[in-house]
Amino acid sequence: MPRIALIIGSTRPNRFADVPAAWVQAGAQARGLKLDTLDLRDHPLPLFEEPVPPSFTGGVYQNPAADAWRKRIGEYDGYILTTAEYNHGPTAVLKNALDSAFVEWADKPVTFVGYGGVGGSRAIEQLRQHAIELKMAPIRNAVHIGLEPFLGILQQGRALDDYAYLTQAREAMFDQLLWWAEALKAARERKVA
Ligand SMILES: Cc1cc2nc3c(=O)[nH]c(=O)nc-3n(C[C@H](O)[C@H](O)[C@H](O)COP(=O)(O)O)c2cc1C
Repeated sequence: MPRIALIIGSTRPNRFADVPAAWVQAGAQARGLKLDTLDLRDHPLPLFEEPVPPSFTGGVYQNPAADAWRKRIGEYDGYILTTAEYNHGPTAVLKNALDSAFVEWADKPVTFVGYGGVGGSRAIEQLRQHAIELKMAPIRNAVHIGLEPFLGILQQGRALDDYAYLTQAREAMFDQLLWWAEALKAARERKVA
């Protein structure tokens, strides 16, 4: 079974991110998939401050927190990122977390659970571009929690499980992520250094 990390991509007090993170975990457990949650609150990283870009160091980071983070990232075969949208882009803390590892992301799939006015779409599209530059494989299937469920949860006491189309999207996301994670794990193992 590939090892998958669920990265919680926002850290502010009172964040919404905990709602989709718990729902993704519940869905994973229901299908026997183990997901490790990496909460960026538990991994406080400096704003990128490496004197030499990781592309010139073989991916080594001088800052101990960044070096610990990238080693942790290296343990996984695929990633799910909860994705808030701040000013039509990803959160700074999530972009910084991407910048704080390098070779560890490569040749692995990534997907997104976005939320907000347009389901985090604008942030997710930007993150897909960042992921490609990191040699990742951003997959098609993602979850977009749009305005109606977002407000339904915040203001009307509803839950993500009340929206069957979101559950379907979550399952399709798991299916595709696992397919890519297995395929790329095998490809990495075959790869000659
Ligand atoms: C600084 C800031 C900028 C925001 N910009 C957007 C935006 O561009 N698009 C959007 O859909 N929601 C935007 N929102 C609303 C967020 O979707 C909403 O606050 C969400 O709960 C943020 O995720 P979080 O609670 O996990 O931090 C913004 C919120 C903040 C705090």
